[in-house]
Amino acid sequence: MTERGPAARGIDTSTPNVARIYDYLLGGKDNFAADRAAAQQLIAATPDIAGIVRDNRAFIGRAVRYLAGQGGIRQFLDLGAGLPTQLNVHEMARRVAPDARVVYVDSDPVVASHGQALLVRGEGVAMVCADLRKPEDILGDADVLRLLDPDQPVGVICASVLHFVPDEDEPHQIIAQYRDRMVPGSFLAISHGASATAEEDPGGVVGSFTSVYRQASAQLHVRSQAEIQRFFDGFELLEPGVVWMTEWRPDPGVPPTGQPRSLRAGVGRKP
Ligand SMILES: C[S@@+](CC[C@H](N)C(=O)[O-])C[C@H]1O[C@@H](n2cnc3c(N)ncnc32)[C@H](O)[C@@H]1O
Repeated sequence: MTERGPAARGIDTSTPNVARIYDYLLGGKDNFAADRAAAQQLIAATPDIAGIVRDNRAFIGRAVRYLAGQGGIRQFLDLGAGLPTQLNVHEMARRVAPDARVVYVDSDPVVASHGQALLVRGEGVAMVCADLRKPEDILGDADVLRLLDPDQPVGVICASVLHFVPDEDEPHQIIAQYRDRMVPGSFLAISHGASATAEEDPGGVVGSFTSVYRQASAQLHVRSQAEIQRFFDGFELLEPGVVWMTEWRPDPGVPPTGQPRSLRAGVGRKP
């Protein structure tokens, strides 16, 4: 191993890492053997998991397109942004609104350093290494204050991340803190791993997922439709509400690539 190898940089490559598992499932190269082994266990439980992950990116794309278009949003806060991928939120938003500004936030230092190298290549984009469970730190961060005007509506994206926040950390209370700082006309978009009854999930896939993540850098806490919907307290939910993510305003003629009942998703507007 060279001096610049991952261990020398303080990166734990032996524990499956949620960002790098996701990267592997998206076809990325920023992952190690332990991440790939965990991803293979997920694939064994749900062979089309890579399709589910792509469907999640597609949901983000539809939500961002709506926010930047009809929603008139010009500034975005992407919480739990993940490793840079093929089409990132600022690229999605700028297809509609070329002046859109985006702050990416991730608690994983590897994600943050890759983001700083790959995403922050021009004006109006920043990557902040921070934990979304600390809204005050994030909203007081120098890059957030530089790029996001607190007096203007903002689009907050929480895609496939809140299920890594356990109930004891009070995720609904955390989201309420962001909501209280957002001006009217702001939006919240969420996708979230969904719990399932034995009838809905006879193969026990959700349980298999949870056990794979038990060994990983963060554990999986799937939630019911009602619990996911409660994140939107104080927001007006856009039609069709909190639904399976593939059913949230699907693009005509673009079928889901994975199992349609996996994550639930919704978008709300602060009145
Ligand atoms: C499954 S990836 C989702 C990436 C992207 N949002 C998407 O949906 O394509 C989850 C990301 O959330 C990050 N994450 C997990 N817990 C976090 C926390 N408490 N604060 C900030 N980021 C977190 C992980 O490091 C990882 O990059």
